[in-house]
Amino acid sequence: MTITEAEFSKLAEAARLGASRAYCPYSRFRVGAAVLSGDGRIAWGGNVENASYGLTSCAERNAVFRAVADSERPMTIRAVVIYTPTPEPTAPCGACRQVINEFGPDAEIRAICDGPCVLSYRLHELLPVAFGPGNLAGPGA
Ligand code: THU
Repeated sequence: MTITEAEFSKLAEAARLGASRAYCPYSRFRVGAAVLSGDGRIAWGGNVENASYGLTSCAERNAVFRAVADSERPMTIRAVVIYTPTPEPTAPCGACRQVINEFGPDAEIRAICDGPCVLSYRLHELLPVAFGPGNLAGPGA
């Protein structure tokens, strides 16, 4: 089910909060993300970098992991909103798409920014022919 305008505006506010709490002293590229779970909860996060650069964790994954900790089972994701304080919106990286797919293969993904452009997709459009939980359910599992 498509998210309502009211849900979108709550998610956008939470994603902005996530960006405000990002820890990104190395890239100085601030990202915030908010996840709407199937039970109606909203979880948010920002990117968290590390002096050992490769250990950086994206805003989207931080928000998803927080949502998993906070939400009822079965865990599902209805929508993810990503905010960057940039003139153009930022799409989620491939690793984050895979993590979102686990809980929301049909999730709405919207990316907003400080300009007028909004990206709006379903997760399966961003990660077609995905590997997911269903692949592990066959004989021999
Ligand atoms: N980043 C995210 O938080 N999400 C993405 O989908 C792409 C990249 C972060 C990681 C790093 O802290 C900074 O943006 C620059 O790559």
